[in-house]
Amino acid sequence: MRLDLTGKRAVVCGSTQGIGLARAHEIALLGAEVTLLARDEARLHEAAAALPRPAGQAHAVAVADFAVDASLRRAAESLADAGGAQILVHNTGGPPPGQAIDADPEDFVRAFRMHIVSGHALVQALLPAMKAAKYGRVINIVSTSVRQPIPGLGVSNTVRGAVASWAKTLSMELGRHNVTVNNILPGYTETERLRSLVNGRAAARSADPKAVADELRATIPLGRFGEAAEIGAVAAFLASPAASYVSGQSIAVDGGRTSTI
Ligand SMILES: NC(=O)c1ccc[n+]([C@@H]2O[C@H](COP(=O)([O-])OP(=O)(O)OC[C@H]3O[C@@H](n4cnc5c(N)ncnc54)[C@H](OP(=O)(O)O)[C@@H]3O)[C@@H](O)[C@H]2O)c1
Repeated sequence: MRLDLTGKRAVVCGSTQGIGLARAHEIALLGAEVTLLARDEARLHEAAAALPRPAGQAHAVAVADFAVDASLRRAAESLADAGGAQILVHNTGGPPPGQAIDADPEDFVRAFRMHIVSGHALVQALLPAMKAAKYGRVINIVSTSVRQPIPGLGVSNTVRGAVASWAKTLSMELGRHNVTVNNILPGYTETERLRSLVNGRAAARSADPKAVADELRATIPLGRFGEAAEIGAVAAFLASPAASYVSGQSIAVDGGRTSTI
């Protein structure tokens, strides 16, 4: 299988921890030079220093806060000025939990900025490099709520559907440049976000977090939470030449939990 990414550049967002960091690791293992992007500069440098370098590649960091327009624009411009990248993995922290009906209308605006405006600005910044290389991969980390809304994640459910529509539309527009656009829909994955969601649900019901985690596990055919590396492996495949005919897809990596076909 053609998995080699030597000579390719990748920008991996939300990559100081969790799913983003695992994806950066898997993509670096295939030989790509990776730019890690998030808000915390010190943790970015620490993470970049620990990435694999099988092709002797040099990794880099970019600091940006997707919630702040000027910060996003600056990062997008400097990534473009630095020559862009052929691979963009778009990812960031998920919106806070809560029922949709209780959300402040501005919460939806914030979520749209974090999950769509940021991705769109980065795609536009990196597209010239993708077109020049006749090789582009845009991979969005979304959620299984694209298929089945998750109770208690009202704003998240709403914006994830919008991300899937944006990505599908882009896949139709960019295919002629050999740029593929796909979404990964992670299920319950062992990260800080999952721990805080479990703790929040437990606190709301005065329940033991372990009991809440066990209830969630019981909904997963494979009987366990996913590991971030298992999401990273699918992202690395989608970034690779082997995935050249996969585009416009939303791929659940959830241990079989989503019950739609
Ligand atoms: N874990 C799960 O079970 C699960 C399931 C389904 C979907 N997801 C979704 O998958 C995505 C990643 O999940 P995760 O569990 O890996 O999340 P996480 O552990 O909370 O990590 C989020 C990453 O995004 C960065 N980030 C947060 N806010 C940012 C901002 N304003 N601007 C730029 N970067 C920002 C964080 O770094 P800094 O703090 O340094 O900025 C961090 O590297 C989220 O959208 C999440 O909702 C997760």
